[in-house]
Amino acid sequence: MRDNVKPGEKWEFNEDVAACFANMLERSIPDYKSMRALTYKAGERFIQPDTLIVDVGCSTGLAVEPFVEKYQDENDFLLIDNAPAMVDACRKRFAAVPGVLVKAGNLWEYLPLPDKASLVLSVLSLRFMPTSYRQKMLSDIYEGLTPGGALILVEKIVSESLDELMVHLYYEMKRENGYTDDQIMDKRRSLENVLSPLKVGWNVDMLRTAGFKQVAMFWRCLNFCGWIAVK
Ligand SMILES: C[S@@+](CC[C@H](N)C(=O)[O-])C[C@H]1O[C@@H](n2cnc3c(N)ncnc32)[C@H](O)[C@@H]1O
Repeated sequence: MRDNVKPGEKWEFNEDVAACFANMLERSIPDYKSMRALTYKAGERFIQPDTLIVDVGCSTGLAVEPFVEKYQDENDFLLIDNAPAMVDACRKRFAAVPGVLVKAGNLWEYLPLPDKASLVLSVLSLRFMPTSYRQKMLSDIYEGLTPGGALILVEKIVSESLDELMVHLYYEMKRENGYTDDQIMDKRRSLENVLSPLKVGWNVDMLRTAGFKQVAMFWRCLNFCGWIAVK
């Protein structure tokens, strides 16, 4: 379904958003297909049999779906999201797969993780969670990983320099993808105080403080980037 959501005063991941979420992301995340493909290809390298694969802020389950398709016989999956509409959509997507557990609630309620995980995905989610909790959540995720396991973290960021230009180019991309100026500005207003992107350096510092020894940026386009962090 095409994204024609009229955002309220404060952004919500509600039924309307869940219904068109795939289209919304495709048209709102720059270089979306590469991000998805690389997240999968990089993530696959760290999966160990009989461990958990975790997706935090899973939304409708788009990031974890290819992992479920390939690894459902060897791994269990724990997916967490605090938006009821997203949880419903995600549960429907994986209803036929017994090893997929979708939990509703704030991520920090499910940390530390119940079992050892070899792969944790956090794709465009942490930016919606309180900044003051992020270090603790990343440290708990690190503790829950098996040695050699990894966190794939994709975030919107604030550019260390030329931030205004990045934002301008981002809005241009959204226009090219069929969003009107009003839609772009309405969403921007609605997301204020809901979304808190941080600078690259701040994200990397948190990953290192959590304990990750190897941290590498594997993808970046404008103000969006992704890291692989290995335990
Ligand atoms: C941009 S979406 C994530 C997209 C998804 N990971 C993907 O790759 O398709 C952000 C998600 O984070 C969830 N979220 C926000 N705050 C959360 C919290 N405190 N605990 C768990 N999930 C949260 C939202 O409900 C939303 O579904």
